[in-house]
Amino acid sequence: MKRIVVLISGRGSNMQAIARCCAEQGWPARVAAVVADRADAPGLAWAASKGIATAVVERRGHASREAFDAELMRVVDGWAPDLVALAGFMRILGPAFVRHYEARLLNIHPSLLPAFPGLHTHRRALQAGCKAAGATVHFVTPELDHGPIVMQGVVPVRPGDDEAALAARVLATEHAIYPLAVRWFVEGRLRLHDGLVTQTEGASQVLI
Ligand code: GAR
Repeated sequence: MKRIVVLISGRGSNMQAIARCCAEQGWPARVAAVVADRADAPGLAWAASKGIATAVVERRGHASREAFDAELMRVVDGWAPDLVALAGFMRILGPAFVRHYEARLLNIHPSLLPAFPGLHTHRRALQAGCKAAGATVHFVTPELDHGPIVMQGVVPVRPGDDEAALAARVLATEHAIYPLAVRWFVEGRLRLHDGLVTQTEGASQVLI
């Protein structure tokens, strides 16, 4: 059984999608723990209600970002994870953390990378007049919101969309692609070579 640790900062709807699919689809894995950088992250209560171990590592109380990263690493390593999945974890992780989990650290970002790394992706997509938007699951590298792309979900931008409407449509595709990408990882179906990801079967995009 592979062990997955999910890192969240907020509601954790992607974490819930992963945990649900893992249990319902009988993956050779389990969500061993959910770790948040905020004690008030609503996703923690959901995880606890499902019997998943939880932990909190807050930035305050650590003298530097490096010290925070080191403590987070120590806590996460307590579950000896095969995979660490960032799911709305809103902190930039330093190079030592990223190197430590190299090739076993995934993130989901609410844009079609390499477009719109960083924050306010939906606002920026609307301002740019994009006709399609979406989300990307990628392996994490030290450069923010970059790294080998595992899977993308694409949705239309509709006339009259505001940020909330577009975010909701993109979130629905996130809940489809992130569990699938994690499933591929735990089933050993992803190959990472020269900064590119291939997988042994199935399509690497969800088009809605
Ligand atoms: C998701 O839309 C995720 O893509 C985004 O935060 C949201 C978390 O929602 N992540 C980022 O912006 C990371 N750069 P959730 O807590 O309900 O999964």
